[in-house]
Amino acid sequence: MTAPTTDTSTLRRAVAVVSGQPTSDGAGVKLTRVIGGGELPDLDPFLLLDEFGTDRAEDYLAGFPDHPHRGFETVTYMLDGRMRHRDNHGNEGLLVPGSVQWMTAGRGLVHSEMPEQQEGRMRGFQLWVNLPARDKMGEPRYQEFAPEQIPVTHPVEGVTVKVIAGVVDGVRGPIVQPATEPLYLDVALDPGRSWDYALPEGHNAFAYVFEGHARLGEGDDARPLATHELGVLGGGDVLHIASGDEGARLILVAGRPLREPVARYGPFVMNTKQEVMQAFADFQEGKF
Ligand code: CO
Repeated sequence: MTAPTTDTSTLRRAVAVVSGQPTSDGAGVKLTRVIGGGELPDLDPFLLLDEFGTDRAEDYLAGFPDHPHRGFETVTYMLDGRMRHRDNHGNEGLLVPGSVQWMTAGRGLVHSEMPEQQEGRMRGFQLWVNLPARDKMGEPRYQEFAPEQIPVTHPVEGVTVKVIAGVVDGVRGPIVQPATEPLYLDVALDPGRSWDYALPEGHNAFAYVFEGHARLGEGDDARPLATHELGVLGGGDVLHIASGDEGARLILVAGRPLREPVARYGPFVMNTKQEVMQAFADFQEGKF
């Protein structure tokens, strides 16, 4: 399949390729930080992307005990394993393989994310999406979807897309967030396949390969992505993705940039340092 050649479409190409850094978070869960580390501190409106993936129970058993959030959203996409979520407002849910939880922390909550298994593989992603100033102190909210609630489409032969957020060929994902109009796709390409997809113009976007190899762009601009590499996409609209001989699986994520000042410290992401200090004070006074 060739890319559209109409005058009005421009190909998006990878302007940077980054690989994550091994780190640990929570009570010692091993993970790879792809956005939010030194290489790529943020990609407005995205503040953090962690990939967790291990067969070793000791890498995840400690989980993420009670911790607060304020001022942004956390998106958990499970690929393998089971994780139980609880918060101090009485919400509870079980994340199973293929499920998605989109949590809007808003003005604040305290929650835990703990493994619901003693052995076996645990694999998935957590993405942090910023909120605009007007929504940072809003009500906390959950959008939780079981695997069967995530629509699947085949835009071309050999390409399977799970639409978590956004639209592909008229198939709309269940997540709604007008502030950043996010796109979140899980794209699987069989060996030697390609797909052209028009991303929302003006959105910042990235592709992260978690299985196999892929190539972003075409011709001289094409950039290969190995497993566990993220391509930051430049401006334009149409993205051309192709897979290597072993196929590829990747997440393709885009969002409208907020272009607001970011003051972040640990689990709090506000616009000013003073608001972050207020978040600490409110948390310590039990106001979450
Ligand atoms: Co959390």
